[in-house]
Amino acid sequence: MKILVINGPNLARLDIRDSSIYGDLNYGELTSLVQIAAKEHGFDADIRQSDDEATIIGWLHEAADKKLPVIINPAAFTHYSYAIRDAAQMLTAPLIEVHLSNPLSREEFRHTSVISAVARGTIAGFGPNSYVLAIIALKNLIG
Ligand code: DQA
Repeated sequence: MKILVINGPNLARLDIRDSSIYGDLNYGELTSLVQIAAKEHGFDADIRQSDDEATIIGWLHEAADKKLPVIINPAAFTHYSYAIRDAAQMLTAPLIEVHLSNPLSREEFRHTSVISAVARGTIAGFGPNSYVLAIIALKNLIG
């Protein structure tokens, strides 16, 4: 079964972001790990990244139309994009929000997620394993 994995702004630049917060994997290594974990659990993961809000909204529309499950790391859009939230709300298959870091242990502006309320659940703070745990959660939800 196909799943869409959406990564938001600046996540393609993990190699130059703060490794004490985001870990040591670069974006390519992260996507390989997610791809392998998805396969292990019987999913075909379509993994995408954009710095552009409109592009991410378009991908959510596509997932809604195709009834695809979605794992999303909205990155900084997590904290203020009502447009991404509204698009996410139209999904009919499960949506899981993930974060590499634990935003609740960081600056106050990161303590709010406008996405969480329309997600089935949120997994944060486990580095790349947040994605792997989301894949396992999806498997448990949809078999
Ligand atoms: C992030 C957390 C966000 O607060 C931040 O803006 C990111 C990455 C994470 O994966 O930990 O870009 O979503």
